[in-house]
Amino acid sequence: MNPKLAVKELVSKCLQARDMAYCPYSHFPVGAAILTAEGAIVTGCNVENASYGLTVCAERTAIQRAIVEGHRQFTAIAVTCDIKDRFVGPCGACRQVLLEFGTDWIVYLTKPDGSYKETSLSELLPLAFSPTHLGKD
Ligand code: THU
Repeated sequence: MNPKLAVKELVSKCLQARDMAYCPYSHFPVGAAILTAEGAIVTGCNVENASYGLTVCAERTAIQRAIVEGHRQFTAIAVTCDIKDRFVGPCGACRQVLLEFGTDWIVYLTKPDGSYKETSLSELLPLAFSPTHLGKD
């Protein structure tokens, strides 16, 4: 697929996923869409819990879903929330979870109007602890 079209699609899917968020406590919906190396798109949203600490972020629901669906290689993730005036990055825990599957991810921080800022996982999590430190390649 044309790379620009792929980004547009990814951004649109993360916005759709945000609309599925289960966030009755924070009222802060988040959506994520992951582009796999095979060109598939896997989405996630935050899923909160009455026991607050059990909440799972959108980025992690997406990655867990992707793994279950058999994907292991990822190229990009688009993430969005309802904040209109700034580009918002994934939380620290999600950055670490994404890094488990490579440092070369492109990250599209997406506003509700579909505009986005491109960054990378290595920029968002420099000097990270990674699987390579445990002898994994
Ligand atoms: N949240 C995410 O889904 N991703 C992040 O990177 C940051 C925070 C969710 C968790 C919680 O449901 C709500 O946003 C407020 O923290």
